[in-house]
Amino acid sequence: EQVKVFAPASVANVSCGFDVLGFALQSPGDEIIARRVESSSKLEIVTVTGANGMLPTSVEKNTAGVAAQMLLDYLECEFGIELEIHKKMPLGSGLGSSAASSVGAVVAVNRLLGSPLEDKELLQFAAEGERVACGTAHLDNVAPSLLGGVVFIRDQESADVFALECPKPLFATVVHPQIEIKTEDTRKILRRDIPLKKAVTQWGNVGGLVAGLLKGDYGLISRSLHDEIIEPVRSVLIPGFDKVKEAAINADVLGSGISGSGPSVFALSSTRGTAVRAGKRMQGAFDKIGLENECYISKV
Ligand code: HSE
Repeated sequence: EQVKVFAPASVANVSCGFDVLGFALQSPGDEIIARRVESSSKLEIVTVTGANGMLPTSVEKNTAGVAAQMLLDYLECEFGIELEIHKKMPLGSGLGSSAASSVGAVVAVNRLLGSPLEDKELLQFAAEGERVACGTAHLDNVAPSLLGGVVFIRDQESADVFALECPKPLFATVVHPQIEIKTEDTRKILRRDIPLKKAVTQWGNVGGLVAGLLKGDYGLISRSLHDEIIEPVRSVLIPGFDKVKEAAINADVLGSGISGSGPSVFALSSTRGTAVRAGKRMQGAFDKIGLENECYISKV
C-alpha cells in the first residue's frame, strides 16, 4: 500500500508580507511517496532523488523526515513507513523547497493512515520541518504549499492562517538564478529594530495588498507590492537584482520582489501574456551578467 503526493513550490513574503504571506505555484514541486511496510516498525527515508546528495537521509536530520516522524508520534502509529523523496525543484532557491518536502511527507503519511487529520491540522507538523531547515518554524511557505492559493498567516504560534481568494486572475513569474542562498543565513543579517516610519509604510502595504487581493483591485495590489525593510538588506546577495526587478516593472507587471529569502525573483501580473513577457526580460537581465537561470510561470 502506498500514497504518492505532489507538493508545490511557493513564493513567501510577497514583498511586504515577511513571514505572514505566501502563495503556491502550480509547478515546480516535490513528489513524495509513503509506503507501509511490515518488515519494520520505524519511519525510514529509503530514496532521495534530485538533490545531488545534498539532503540527509536520516529521519532526524531531514526536514520531511522530522515532519513525518512528529505526525507519526502524534498519531501513535505502530507500523513501519518508507518515504521516497523526489526533489523536482532547486534547493536554496527561495521557492520553499524544504517546505514542499515537509508538506508532501505529512500529507502522504496522513493519507496512508486513512486521513485522520484535516489538512489545516497538518500545518504544525510541516512547520517543524521548517524549523530543522532554517531555525524558525515560519509558515509562509508551508501553509500555501499545503492549502494552495494565497495564504495569510495572522499568527504563527497558533497557526491562525486563512486563504485570500482573489476574484481576478493573477499570474506569477519566478526566475531562479543558479546560485544558492540559505534562508537561515539571510535571516541572520536582518535588522532587529525597524524605524517606526518604515513599519508604518510596511503595514500600510500589507493591509493594502490583502485588501487588493480580496477585492481583485489590481491598482491597489500594485501600489502595495513594496518592501522597504527586508528587500534592501537581502537584495545585495542577489547579483543583478535591481536590473531584474526593473526589467519586470518595465514589462508592466503589478509588482516584483525577492521570492522568499531569494535568490529567486518573482513578479505578479494580471495576464499570462504579461507574466511570460516579464519572465523573458527578467531572464535577459540575469543572462546579461552571465548568471544561468530558469523561469517558471504559474497561475496563482
Ligand atoms: N519568510 C521566510 C523568510 C521565507 O523570508 O525568511 C523563507 O523562505
